[in-house]
Amino acid sequence: MLVNDPSSEAARRRTFAIISHPDAGKTTLTEKFLLYGGALGKEAGTVKAREGRRSATSDWMEMEQQRGISITSAALQFEYRDTVINLLDTPGHRDFSEDTYRVLAAADAAIMVLDAAKGIEKQTLKLFEVCREREIPFITFVNKWDRPGKIALELLDEIEQTLIVDPTPVTWPVGIAGDFRGLIHQASGQYTRFERTARGSTMAPETQVESDQAEELDVEWWGEAQEEAELLRELGRLADRDTFLNCESTPVFFGSAMTNFGIRFLLDGVVDLIPAPSARTLADGTTRALDEPFAGLVFKMQAGMDKSHRDRIAFVRVCSGVFERGLIATAASSGRQFSTKYAQTLFGQDRETVDTAYPGDILGLVNANDVRVGDAVYVDMPCEFPALPAFAPEHFMRVRVKDTSKFKQFRKGVAQLDEEGAIQVLRDDFLGEQAPVLAAVGQLQFEVATHRLENEFGAPVALTSTPYTIARKTDVESTPKLQAMQGVDVFKRANGTHLALFESRYWMDRVLTDFPELTLERMVAEGGLG
Ligand code: G4P
Repeated sequence: MLVNDPSSEAARRRTFAIISHPDAGKTTLTEKFLLYGGALGKEAGTVKAREGRRSATSDWMEMEQQRGISITSAALQFEYRDTVINLLDTPGHRDFSEDTYRVLAAADAAIMVLDAAKGIEKQTLKLFEVCREREIPFITFVNKWDRPGKIALELLDEIEQTLIVDPTPVTWPVGIAGDFRGLIHQASGQYTRFERTARGSTMAPETQVESDQAEELDVEWWGEAQEEAELLRELGRLADRDTFLNCESTPVFFGSAMTNFGIRFLLDGVVDLIPAPSARTLADGTTRALDEPFAGLVFKMQAGMDKSHRDRIAFVRVCSGVFERGLIATAASSGRQFSTKYAQTLFGQDRETVDTAYPGDILGLVNANDVRVGDAVYVDMPCEFPALPAFAPEHFMRVRVKDTSKFKQFRKGVAQLDEEGAIQVLRDDFLGEQAPVLAAVGQLQFEVATHRLENEFGAPVALTSTPYTIARKTDVESTPKLQAMQGVDVFKRANGTHLALFESRYWMDRVLTDFPELTLERMVAEGGLG
């Protein structure tokens, strides 16, 4: 098999995630990307040919379909302008922001989708904080411009005020939200008009229009749009790659995923602005160069995607070297070797065997049982990636198996959910495996855990509430003293981490003040951002 050099293959790759509030249009946008990338044949509708529109390409879990939320994350690959685009899907619901965080660890940038009528919603804010925490540059796509919504300049203000980042429009809309005519490309000043197609199932025909003609065609809007566009240029609000990469600015694109207006501009932005994969920083502060032997980051474990197989997939982002199917990789955490005979790329529910992959690509390794989320898998040269921090859980429930004859299944299921990072499993010295505490960032995680324990592992469970409201990371030394106190208990995770759970923040603050010698570390996203 012909294998290319990893650096030059990396240079033509863009790996990013889309984040948005549920309903802002992430699924529709993903479909339209595929349409423009030629991955759907000519009709976007082929993906939408499904029961209800919710079971889109990247949604597969039964529960997601019932609830209409996206829980699992998929990766899609397609080509556009000779560039290989790797698109990572993220769960839309804030309860799964920890998953989003992990997906972003595998991405080089993000696209934040806003609904033109809603602007920045709470969920977007929380996900944005996740981006910032990871220092991921992000592009903003203002979607649904075909529908009545906010005023473009106000949206820019909102982005600036709420996210503390400079919005720099790459395109500027002609026509208010609800009467969308076309886009001015800010750097060239060129005006592109669009035409609608039936159900937006084919690419939107585009015409380049000169100023005098635009004045005739779009008399209601042209003058104002041009003035605003000019003003923004004068103010220096033009997309700038350096400030974008430093997360100081966000290039803004306007459009409508439904009618395909502006999709091409956005994809061009992906190719021109998003950085290609580069050398990856390792846990010891050194880097893994692209040309070094194969190494990948496990950013997500997923089980039971295929009802008939119930297999387990480790999603891996290739960080260096060339992946060739069949190679024997080592998992950094266990030191165990495993075969990669069943490597796949994923296209929603469809999986295809992958033979070769390069930095930036996403692989699904089937039945890679000895790996865990955050793990490095490598050949020849060992490496470890910086640890993916756990989010501060905010909800805590005791879980017990309903039928004790199913205890083995229960234990296996709980351990697996923990390894996948679907929920945090905390054990104390008293109830241990019998009734661990499940700790979650959002309530929906409990629903997923309960559903999966019952349906996937055959162990129906009962949840009972606990008095805990807040968690801090602690250690072996601080444990005895904390255990001796009222209103706090110490639990252990399978990875050895100790967590102190407090009944109230007030009590925790007192302990912090009165016993400064105790280790009580904050965790990521404590206090429910957004
Ligand atoms: P999500 O993945 O972010 O949750 O959003 P999704 O793409 O599922 O879109 C949510 C709703 O918004 C869908 O409507 C979708 O058709 C609509 N939508 C997406 N992009 C646009 C757009 O650019 N303009 C307009 N007007 N609507 C858009 P739905 O009623 O839930 O489904 P459907 O009946 O339209 O298929």
